[in-house]
Amino acid sequence: MYIVILLVLVSAVRAQNGSELIMCDGVVFNNVYYDKELLFSGLGRPYNLMMHKFSGVIFFSHTIQNGTQVDFGIMACHIEKRTCRDIHGVPGGYALAYDGGNDDIYFGGHDGIYKYNFLTKKAEFFAEEGKSIWGIFVRRNFYYIEYPTQKLYVYQDDTFVKVAEATDIEVDNFFISKQLDIYFSNKTALYKVEKNSRQPIVLNDEIAVRQIAEDIYGDIYFCASDGIYVEDKPYHKSKKVADIHQAFGMTFDEVDHIIYSDKDAIYRMRPSKYSKLCYDAILDALEKKKQGEGRRSLPLISNMYN
Ligand SMILES: *[C@@H]1O[C@H](CO)[C@@H](O)[C@H](O)[C@H]1NC(C)=O
Ligand SMILES: *[C@@H]1O[C@H](CO)[C@@H](O)[C@H](O)[C@H]1NC(C)=O
Ligand SMILES: *[C@@H]1O[C@H](CO)[C@@H](O)[C@H](O)[C@H]1NC(C)=O
Repeated sequence: MYIVILLVLVSAVRAQNGSELIMCDGVVFNNVYYDKELLFSGLGRPYNLMMHKFSGVIFFSHTIQNGTQVDFGIMACHIEKRTCRDIHGVPGGYALAYDGGNDDIYFGGHDGIYKYNFLTKKAEFFAEEGKSIWGIFVRRNFYYIEYPTQKLYVYQDDTFVKVAEATDIEVDNFFISKQLDIYFSNKTALYKVEKNSRQPIVLNDEIAVRQIAEDIYGDIYFCASDGIYVEDKPYHKSKKVADIHQAFGMTFDEVDHIIYSDKDAIYRMRPSKYSKLCYDAILDALEKKKQGEGRRSLPLISNMYN
C-alpha cells in the first residue's frame, strides 16, 4: 500500500506549452489530485458538516465568541450563493443530524434537541430539555450522545433509553451505514460492529475521529484530525486517503464531491484539469524532499510569493 505523506507542500509546474504556471495547491485524495475550492472562510472549527442536497445548503457547527467564553453555534451556508446565516435558538449548538427518510434536520446543544423548520428557517425545540447533547444520529432509530457522560441513547416506546450494548462505554461518534453496519469511535479506538454481530472490531486505534460519512456507493469515510481515512473492506482496517492539516469535518455535495473543513474554512474537492500534471509534480517534489534536496524544487514557489 502506498500513502502520500503531504503536510504543507505546494508544488508549481508549467503546463506543456510553458506559458502557464499552475499552482498545485490542491489535495491528493486516494492517489488522485483534486483542486481545492474555498467555499467559506473565517470560521471557527467547522464541525459536523451536513450538506442538505435538496436545498444546496450546508449546515455545520462552529465556535462563536460569547463575551470571554467560547461557545458553539449552528450555521447554514448556501453553497452556490456563498451566503451564510446563523441558526438562532440552539444554545451551544454542536450536534447535527439528517434524517434522510423524512428529510428532517436536527440540532443539539446545551439544552436538548431541536428540529429545523424549513419554512421559518428556524430551530424549534424537539426533546430532552435540560440535557447537553454531543451527537445525534438518525437511521431507522433516533440516537443521541449525551455530554459529558458520552452515553448513547435511543428512542424507544415514547422515551429515550440508554443503548443496552453501550451502557458501560463512552461513544464519541456514532454512525449506521446504509448496509446497517455500525461504526463508532471513542477515546480508545474506532470500531465497526457488523450487521447481525455484537462484537466490536477495531478498525484503527491511532486516529482521533471527528466525523463519519458515507458516499452514494456506501463507502465509509472517517474524518480524523490529520486527514481522511476510508474503510479498507474487507480487511477490518482503515487506510489513509488524504492528508489534511487539522481537519474537522466532511460531507458530500449533490454530485458526491467531498466537502471538508479545516480549523477555519470549508473547501470542496473538484476534479482538476491538471490532475496528472500536479500529481506527478507532487510525487516528484516528495521524492526530492526524501532525498534531502527539497530546497531545490521550491524556489519557483518562493518567487511567486515574493
Ligand atoms: C498553452 O497555454 C495557454 C495559455 O494559458 C492555454 O490557453 C493553452 O490552452 C495552452 N496550450 C496547450 C496546447 O496546452
Ligand atoms: C452568551 O452566554 C450567556 C450566558 O451563558 C447566554 O445567556 C447567552 O444566550 C449567550 N449568547 C449567545 C449568543 O449564545
Ligand atoms: C470504547 O469502546 C470499546 C468497545 O466497546 C470499549 O472496549 C472501550 O472500553 C471503550 N472506551 C471508552 C473510553 O469507553
